[in-house]
Amino acid sequence: MQLTNEQLKDKINEYKEKLSVTVVAHFYQRDEVFDLGDITGDSLELAVRTRDDDAEFVVFCGVGFMGQSVKVLSPNKRVLMPKIACCAMARMIDGTAYDNSVKTLNNAGISNDNILPITYINSSAEVKARVGEMGGLVCTSSNAKVIITDALKVGKKILFVPDRCLGQNIANQMGLKSCVVDDGSNPADADIICFDGFCSVHQLFSLDDIKFYRKKFPGILIAVHPECDPSICDASDFVGSTSQLIKYIKELPPEQKIAVGTEFNMVSRLRPNNTYILSSTKPECPTMNETTLQDLYDVLKSIDDGEPLNEIQIEEDTQKWAKIALERMLAL
Ligand code: 13P
Ligand code: SF4
Repeated sequence: MQLTNEQLKDKINEYKEKLSVTVVAHFYQRDEVFDLGDITGDSLELAVRTRDDDAEFVVFCGVGFMGQSVKVLSPNKRVLMPKIACCAMARMIDGTAYDNSVKTLNNAGISNDNILPITYINSSAEVKARVGEMGGLVCTSSNAKVIITDALKVGKKILFVPDRCLGQNIANQMGLKSCVVDDGSNPADADIICFDGFCSVHQLFSLDDIKFYRKKFPGILIAVHPECDPSICDASDFVGSTSQLIKYIKELPPEQKIAVGTEFNMVSRLRPNNTYILSSTKPECPTMNETTLQDLYDVLKSIDDGEPLNEIQIEEDTQKWAKIALERMLAL
């Protein structure tokens, strides 16, 4: 028999009481799933706070690379995902595409010794491991500028994967030259060479949307995530990661209008009034939205039944190098 949402919530709460489990939920999850999270936050907060948690099982409501990051940082934990949904951006690069990007740089006369790779946390453990093995590290949208500033000190070219927009936005902010792998330009002329990946959700915001809101509500603020195109970030009043956006918006006076360019679920629960979604198309992340209460219930039940579902497993060598890449970030 199909359980109602209320019944599912009650059963989920019963399992949470009974089992040694921590339910973790990213800000982009559906409201009903987010509300059941013991730990909620952005991708960095979740990886760090989960590492310090001592439950035997972590049930991670988010996308695949986030569950993998928890497992990589805490190999002894058992990490399960109600849905192993893969972030569209993370799916744009695998080990082979990464190796091909390095070859493009080599063909332009840049040897591996002169490349410092940085991968956005939105990438698979396989890509993080490749980066770790080459002496590189991970960043998130919260700390990308700090990580890149530090990386530049060694005087190498930065290969930034997979998000072209985040790489270009940070380069613009810091007055650095950037290019995109295989865009026809010479990588030797750039400080940051970006892989051509992107987030389809954050490409939904346009200059027309910004014009529309500025005309409709003079004095409105525009705030966007750095996964948006550089033209959108340049035309906005504030650019910040998920947690930076939350802080910025929550601190505004209640009467200040704002239009926000990031994922719908997060924006819609942020501030009841004077907050608009910067798009005529609902910017929902399809993969974040895949996780339902039923999935969460099923995975908790599977633990109780002694046959855990959807457990994250990472091959030993990948685990080792991906952990090194993540820990280099945390050390900064
Ligand atoms: P955060 O790192 O801000 O949690 O964002 C992850 C993400 O997927 C944004 O689209
Ligand atoms: Fe990936 Fe974009 Fe979804 Fe974030 S919003 S998880 S980058 S597809």
